[in-house]
Amino acid sequence: MKIHVLGSAAGGGFPQWNCNCNNCRGYREGTVNAKARTQSSIAISHGDSDWILFNASPDIRAQLAGFAPMQPARQIRDTGIASVVLMDSQIDHCTGLLMLREGCPFDVWCTPMVHEDLCTGFPIFNMLTHWNGGLNWRPIEVAEGAENRFAIEKVPGITLTAIPLRSSAPPYSPHRNDPHIGDNIGIYVVDETRGTSLFYAPGLGDIEPHLRPYMEKADCLLVDGTLWRDDEMMTAGVGTKTGQEMGHLAQSGPGGMIDYLDTLSGPRKVLIHINNTNPILDEDSAERAELAEHGIEVAWDGMSIEL
Ligand code: MLT
Ligand code: MN
Ligand code: ZN
Repeated sequence: MKIHVLGSAAGGGFPQWNCNCNNCRGYREGTVNAKARTQSSIAISHGDSDWILFNASPDIRAQLAGFAPMQPARQIRDTGIASVVLMDSQIDHCTGLLMLREGCPFDVWCTPMVHEDLCTGFPIFNMLTHWNGGLNWRPIEVAEGAENRFAIEKVPGITLTAIPLRSSAPPYSPHRNDPHIGDNIGIYVVDETRGTSLFYAPGLGDIEPHLRPYMEKADCLLVDGTLWRDDEMMTAGVGTKTGQEMGHLAQSGPGGMIDYLDTLSGPRKVLIHINNTNPILDEDSAERAELAEHGIEVAWDGMSIEL
């Protein structure tokens, strides 16, 4: 399978339009060695013309324009997006559905919790019914203890397993402060022809034991790279929430993402969904060097991984 990183930044992108933190200011002034990044999304294909879009970012127009295989031009109006799979109902992962309105109807796979948020607090499903049938909800069941495997008709050869995990429902969710199974998922994607696999979890607040079997057997991990430190947004003076409050496990420190990834020897390890305050965006930083010492890569827009 081919994995294409459309957007590797967290909500807000990098540089964020209104932000003057060290990274955002340094990028604009040319004093920080970093790449600009759009908001969180990847695409996976088994061939070249039909792609599963994981999350639909507000930056989707630029992301599609920058990746020709997503526009195969087989008919007068066409797209390479075969189906959309959502990890949660956050703005950075769902707003792009509004930009895709001209291509409706689209199949959108998400959990009942995410569907509820997108019919209430952020009613994209309701709004888009006015565009040629809108979004066709394909439920992702996430019963506890069950193997939640599914396939997407237009992309044969790939199977997906949804894994409920602990992160956060967005502020506009009716159950923001009352977590439910299915608010956030990770996805284990298998290329059934080659037997290769990916574990993708751009929002991961806590690596609970049920995730480990998937992370151990995956050939590649694309996991939450939002923050270096749990209190990073507060220290940078740009926010009031910790990573834990937002549902993101920080990389550094005891019990952090680096410590956890060190316990896995098999998979390629790549961080994605990087927040603009994160020092790892600076390719010359000590933090970036520390990741490299642990064999951990940082995703960038346009990165392509073949498994
Ligand atoms: C998150 O991942 O915590 C959210 O996407 C942040 C946001 O977009 O506001
Ligand atoms: Mn996000
Ligand atoms: Zn910033």
